[in-house]
Formats: sequence, C-alpha cells, structure tokens
Amino acid sequence: MTKKIVVFGAGGHAKTVIDVIEKGKLYTIVGLLDNNKPVGQIVYGYNILGDDHWLAEHASSIDGAIVAIGDNWIRGSVVKLLRSIQPSLPFISAIHPSAQIARGANIGVGSVVMAGAVVGSDTEIGDHCILYPNVSVDHDSTIDNFVSFAPRSVTGGNVHIGSFSAIAISATVIHGITIGEHCVIGASATVLSNIAPYTVAYGTPARFIRTRKQGECYL
Ligand SMILES: CC(C)(COP(=O)(O)OP(=O)(O)OC[C@H]1O[C@@H](n2cnc3c(N)ncnc32)[C@H](O)[C@@H]1OP(=O)(O)O)[C@@H](O)C(=O)NCCC(=O)NCCS
Repeated sequence: MTKKIVVFGAGGHAKTVIDVIEKGKLYTIVGLLDNNKPVGQIVYGYNILGDDHWLAEHASSIDGAIVAIGDNWIRGSVVKLLRSIQPSLPFISAIHPSAQIARGANIGVGSVVMAGAVVGSDTEIGDHCILYPNVSVDHDSTIDNFVSFAPRSVTGGNVHIGSFSAIAISATVIHGITIGEHCVIGASATVLSNIAPYTVAYGTPARFIRTRKQGECYL
C-alpha cells in the first residue's frame, strides 16, 4: 500500500510537483493544503482540505507532506511553520522516473527532482530543493537546503551552492564554483567565478548586478 501524503500549495508549481508524485507511484495524495483557496475547491483533480491548521487536527491520518511552493524563501517559511505545528511529520521527496540519480548521490527530504534532471555521482542535494526539468548538477557537488534550479540550468562538478539561492532558467555554472546563500543567478548566465552571498548576477560571463535582501522576490 502506498503512503498517504498531503501537498502544501495549490498553484502552478504544485501541479508540476503533483505530476512528479503521480508518476513516481510511491505515494497517494489525499488532498492539498493552501492558505488562500477555499476548502472543497478542486485543483488539478485534488480537494483543498484546508490550511496549515488542518495538519494540527489530522496529522495522524497521513504519512507525510511536501511543500509545493516555487519561491525558495516562501517555501522555507512554510516548512518552518509546518514543523512548528507538527514536528514529527515526515517530509517526502519526489523524483520523476525519468530523472537520473548517480551512485552515491543523495536527495534531501522535501526536494523535488523533475523529468529529465540528472544528479551526478556523490552529489548532495539538500532538503526542500527543486530541480526543474532537464537540470543537470554534476558530480561531487554540494547543494544546500531550499535551493532551486530552473529548467535546463546546468552545473559542472564540485560546485557548492548556498541555501535559498536560485539558479534561473538555462544558466550555466562551471565546475568548482561556489555560489553563496540567497543569490539569484539570472536567466542564461554563465558563471565563471565565485559569487558572494546575497548577490544578483547575470550575463556571460556573469557579473555582479546588485545585492539582494533575504526573501526578495525573484520570480
Ligand atoms: C535575475 C532576474 C530576476 C532579473 O533581475 P533584475 O535585475 O531585477 O532585472 P530587471 O528585470 O529589473 O532588468 C534590469 C535590466 O537587466 C536586464 N536583464 C534582466 N535579466 C537579465 C538576464 N538574465 N541576462 C541579461 N540581462 C538581463 C533587463 O533586460 C534590463 O535591462 P535594461 O535596463 O537595459 O532594460 C531575471 O533575469 C531572472 O533570471 N528571473 C528568473 C527567471 C526564471 O528562472 N524563471 C523560471 C522559473 S521556474
């Protein structure tokens, strides 16, 4: 019997996460939790069960949860909230069957690896990360928690990316690079040198554009 889970979030990103969970066939989604949608509304075939308070009352009826919110900082805040409501609730990860996870690689709890993504040998993907379709993170890399890789972004091996950083669509990060926490690497950038924390950088080669604050909108 598959494990019963709830998905927190009911927007466009949640649909992509639901699709990955359905294709993985490891979990049964009992419904969605959302703070902005009415109970009973159907989203992508699933009922909105309630908001975060639903968890406090019904945690014993489910085996796990996943937060399906695209913005890294907001996802982090929701994970923190759910942990405070229900500390023992396990977060599940979702891996599309067409993703390739090499030997020795590890995917953290709450993380989503979408269709065609490739994770190289001995690479550590942290908790609550998102690898969108056709992302490639090469060998021996360390990706901290709440990092996102937009579609077709790629990194070479031995890369380190700090928590809450976002690598935008089609960006390329060469091998051995360190990107600090809370950075945004803009669409189609080519990162050839290290990026300091709290930086927006883009272009080829990627250049410092400005600093950014924790939680600043980037989508
Ligand atoms: C980094 C990002 C957020 C834009 O940052 P920003 O500095 O706020 O950019 P703005 O929109 O204010 O644009 C400022 C200038 O930089 C340019 N610019 C913006 N992003 C750029 C990029 N990635 N590469 C080159 N130039 C860029 C704009 O054209 C604009 O130029 P102008 O002043 O000559 O008109 C955006 O490039 C990005 O990557 N967004 C995420 C996209 C993504 O991954 N989506 C998929 C999610 S699943």
